Amino acid sequence: MAASASHFLHPLNQIQFPKCPHLFTKSHFHPRLLRSQTQRFNIRATSAVVVDSPLDLSTKKDQGTQVDLFACPICYEPLIRKGPIGLNLPAIYRSGFKCKRCQKSYTSKDGYLDLTVTSGLRDYVEVQPNRTELFRSPLVSFLYERGWRQNFRQSGFPGPDEEFRMAQEYFEPAKGGRIVDVSCGSGLFSRKFAKSGTYSGVIALDFSENMLRQCYDFIKKDDTLSTTNLALVRADVSRLPFESGSVDAVHAGAALHCWPSPSNAVAEITRVLRSGGVFVGTTFFRYTSSTSWVARLFRERSSLGYGYLTEEEIKDLCTSCGLTNYSCKIQKSFIMFTAQKP
Ligand SMILES: C[S@@+](CC[C@H](N)C(=O)[O-])C[C@H]1O[C@@H](n2cnc3c(N)ncnc32)[C@H](O)[C@@H]1O
Repeated sequence: MAASASHFLHPLNQIQFPKCPHLFTKSHFHPRLLRSQTQRFNIRATSAVVVDSPLDLSTKKDQGTQVDLFACPICYEPLIRKGPIGLNLPAIYRSGFKCKRCQKSYTSKDGYLDLTVTSGLRDYVEVQPNRTELFRSPLVSFLYERGWRQNFRQSGFPGPDEEFRMAQEYFEPAKGGRIVDVSCGSGLFSRKFAKSGTYSGVIALDFSENMLRQCYDFIKKDDTLSTTNLALVRADVSRLPFESGSVDAVHAGAALHCWPSPSNAVAEITRVLRSGGVFVGTTFFRYTSSTSWVARLFRERSSLGYGYLTEEEIKDLCTSCGLTNYSCKIQKSFIMFTAQKP
């Protein structure tokens, strides 16, 4: 593998990455295989590998080191990336990411890039509220697209195909841009966004390691998806690893009621959206205007495991974060809402 002189002279190359690119251009991507290869042979890379990528979404300095679209979840400084360019699973897996300011490195694991603040910590374990922890379970992650999600129909969710179609209508102004599917679960909608060809890049983002592993397995089984512009990222919705104003669209399906702090999450979503960028979310209502006062007593937030909101609260949340053009569609306890960054 040859490296240009400019590659070695570039100051960014002085940064040390724990995981360096070390694969051949035509190798088949498989994280587990990659790990065993590296452990067995203890290969150290001295130059970068370039893979064919349909679209480079990084600010390219040279093939080895670039300023990436991902930002440090601690200080929001764009991460420095060393490795192949491109927003696809093989390229990201073979890359190392580092924040020059915090001196913290971020790497991929089991197919996803971990951009949580706690990434790489040895002793501290973050325990989130139950509604977040539930989805970190391997069983729930496995069952999610195998029956769990289908149950939402009883509450008025129209089903993934129709929800996708409705969301795509709202996302019209974001065509050709970057979409982040926040709280993507096992990637039900991320895969649809990637397949649609509507976006230059799709980032499937979730806090649950097991949901992301499931998502990776689904992608692996689909030949058309493994090399498209689709990235898997572990992150907290309240600490999104992107620069301010760098994202064209944010989708959050059936997620708002699972977030520890919907206000922090909506504020973060607003921060990362560019001017004119669109946010579309779906969730379950706590109650609607036709719910009797007796039923409302039983559906107070304190008595529920999830953070179900009312329509007024959702609108309030969006507008208080500065989003405009709020509108929504409602069916039984299902709401799809949208708002735009001015
Ligand atoms: C009900 S699932 C929704 C999955 C998918 N978007 C859908 O429409 O079916 C809710 C998701 O929210 C994620 N979640 C919960 N807390 C989160 C947080 N703090 N940051 C990011 N995602 C979170 C869970 O891991 C879970 O995958």
